[in-house]
Amino acid sequence: MHSVWGKHKSESASKPYHTFDDSRPPDEGYFKELERVCKHRIIWGGNFMLDYLGKASCMIVWDKGRRGLDQADCEIAWTDLPGQSRIFNWKWNGMLQENMRAKEERVHPTQKPVALYSWLLWKFANPGDKILDTHVGSASSLIACHRAGLEYWGYEIDPVYYATAKERLENEKAQMNFNDIL
Ligand SMILES: C[S@@+](CC[C@H](N)C(=O)[O-])C[C@H]1O[C@@H](n2cnc3c(N)ncnc32)[C@H](O)[C@@H]1O
Repeated sequence: MHSVWGKHKSESASKPYHTFDDSRPPDEGYFKELERVCKHRIIWGGNFMLDYLGKASCMIVWDKGRRGLDQADCEIAWTDLPGQSRIFNWKWNGMLQENMRAKEERVHPTQKPVALYSWLLWKFANPGDKILDTHVGSASSLIACHRAGLEYWGYEIDPVYYATAKERLENEKAQMNFNDIL
């Protein structure tokens, strides 16, 4: 699975995120290579890259539980998965998050919730799958992989976000999980 490329528009105008360079979106060579190395692809922001991607029967829509604001109501992922398109509902609107009792710290301007990736893995991954995220950002995808017990590779070009993602993932790995005490 590949995750993510998104148009960089900060979700929260009030939070002074470090900005990253999104002036060079992936090109045709990138998509060809991704197709070569992946069994299946899930590409966030794929609706901006239809020149390189084929028809899709299974698009994923993440409904952010907000309507008509400056930012989009939802995000769309192109996939090459079989089956029908699906919607994942998870509120993500400034200070408001679906699970307010376990709010995620926002460390990246285009951060997606771990729950979104956990749902994708639950729905589409199989035991033994290896997950590739070439644009890691906040590391939400990798945290979900860790929780699901799946092997993963992640890449992040920006040194500031690389460090933040690494720290976030290490904090997650340092947490005890239910299986550790069984
Ligand atoms: C849209 S954000 C990813 C957000 C991520 N899905 C999340 O949940 O936090 C894209 C990230 O890709 C990184 N990036 C851009 N070009 C890259 C490249 N060639 N290789 C690796 N990372 C890259 C950017 O620095 C940015 O952090």
